[in-house]
Amino acid sequence: MTSDEIRQKFLDFFSAKGGKKGHAIIPSASLVPENDSSVLFTTAGMHPLVPYLLGEKHPLGKRLANVQKCVRTDDIDEVGDGIHHTFFEMLGHWSLGDYFKEEAIKLNFEFLTSPEWIGIPVEKINITIFEGDNDAPRDEKAAAVWKNLGIPNEQIFYLPKKENWWGPVGKSGPCGPDTEIFYEFDIPKCGENCNPSCQCGKYSELGNIVFIQYNKKTDGSYEELKQKNIDTGLGLERITAVSGENKKDDYKIDIFQPITKKIEELSGKKYENNIRVFRIIADHIRAAVFILGDERGISPSNIGQGYIVRRLIRRSIRQGKILSINKNFTSEVAKACIGTLKNIYKEIEKNKDFIFKELEKEENNFRKTLEKGMRKFEKNSDSDISGENAFILFSTYGFPIEMTQELAEEKGIKVDTEGFKKEMVKHQELSRTASAGMFKGGLADSGEETKKLHTATHLLLAALRKVLGGHVVQKGSNITAERLRLDFSYPEKLTDEQKTKVEKLVNEKIKENLPVICEEMSPKEAEKSGALGEFGHKYGEKVKVYSINNFSREICGGPHVEKTGELGEFKIKKEEASSARVRRIKAIIL
Ligand code: ALA
Repeated sequence: MTSDEIRQKFLDFFSAKGGKKGHAIIPSASLVPENDSSVLFTTAGMHPLVPYLLGEKHPLGKRLANVQKCVRTDDIDEVGDGIHHTFFEMLGHWSLGDYFKEEAIKLNFEFLTSPEWIGIPVEKINITIFEGDNDAPRDEKAAAVWKNLGIPNEQIFYLPKKENWWGPVGKSGPCGPDTEIFYEFDIPKCGENCNPSCQCGKYSELGNIVFIQYNKKTDGSYEELKQKNIDTGLGLERITAVSGENKKDDYKIDIFQPITKKIEELSGKKYENNIRVFRIIADHIRAAVFILGDERGISPSNIGQGYIVRRLIRRSIRQGKILSINKNFTSEVAKACIGTLKNIYKEIEKNKDFIFKELEKEENNFRKTLEKGMRKFEKNSDSDISGENAFILFSTYGFPIEMTQELAEEKGIKVDTEGFKKEMVKHQELSRTASAGMFKGGLADSGEETKKLHTATHLLLAALRKVLGGHVVQKGSNITAERLRLDFSYPEKLTDEQKTKVEKLVNEKIKENLPVICEEMSPKEAEKSGALGEFGHKYGEKVKVYSINNFSREICGGPHVEKTGELGEFKIKKEEASSARVRRIKAIIL
């Protein structure tokens, strides 16, 4: 079966009418989370659904499914084996307080094992179950359902929270025990204790079913949710691989073939003789294509998402060097990546010129310093690399710290990363990636302060449009529990008078204690009704529109306070340029 067939089968299976199917298909969300600073990228389909898992009503009902583009940077060091990726497609389905454990397990069993659908032999399926601890009991119910379906005891394993619990995405939010589904390869166990959580290569996780029944609070405690949800994610690449011939190698499936072929052409070398290097290049350029080509496209930089994409591109270039590719090649590989998925994710085709331009620029920059940087590294690598030298490699030669670490590891020496961080702070360049602050706030945190700041952001945008003109539109936002940040289109620095006016207007609306009303409608109706939104963007069939009197009206996933009076005093802390013709305001509420 091709990956296209499997993607389509999944959508057909879960949207089919009747039984516990009938899921509404929602679009893949952007890879760069909206209004959310708890993570840099969308790491799972549940991520944009957090408010609905916590009980908000979803406009399309209680059963949803989609194919979500995901980036998981945690897995970057694993890339190189047959089953890990930084970018991958997740087949997901959700029950928002509708069906629960038994039905969810049965649906997945049928989809994965029935010859009518994927047809994986039952004897190849292994299951893991949460073994229980002080926070939640051992999941005998899930085990009983699997056994009833015909999974024998020897294929069922009970594991602790570290393995069989999913979420929350940030520090707090919806989460719960899960049951995971593994494929067992025809190789011997690595030892007596070998089980699906083992990294020896005997098992590949195809997906998991999370029983989202808790909300983890910021104090670390778990509160039982009134609404019990299902959150399921299956990995498209792995399922395609195990249902094909080269079961252990995702990089041999149809989606990767044109990419590895292109690398063979460019290097004159064979995949089979350079497996790890080929996989890293293929994975990283594919991820870079999707990050650069996202609806909220990101350029390489030294902070946040920009840093990750820089790291992916530069790492590929170094791997290219190992294959003796000494001229620019990343945009050629990118072309192959776009070709494989442009029909599913239109944005990568639409934004291809931007993708190529950014790759060329990044590659030109890095190639200028790569040779010299390698010489500098060699010169200093007789003993461990000091923080200062790691910093010089970063700031003068453009070596991401992780790349210096990797080079050091290959040589069997260490890098003083603490010293490196100190140098970074000294030079005021501490990447947001490394700062702890980014794990707070955002959709995953529907804490009171975050909610207030979401509503304050709507008031601020409306006030800016009143004071500066109706041509002002939102260009981005980022909310933590401490502050809001709003980017908007405007060509010049705001005057003190304009800032005071905006602040005053927001505070007036807070004092008026206006209700925040939420309505559901189609994106067309929303646009017609004058709601602000990104209409070029892929919305689902229905959206939520939040209105505050006739002052503000915006499409938004929430969460929001009920009345503006809950906000307290609004204060602009900073107004600055964000990029050409885009200004940025940071504000707080006291
Ligand atoms: N949210 C679950 C996962 O990503 C399904 O594995």
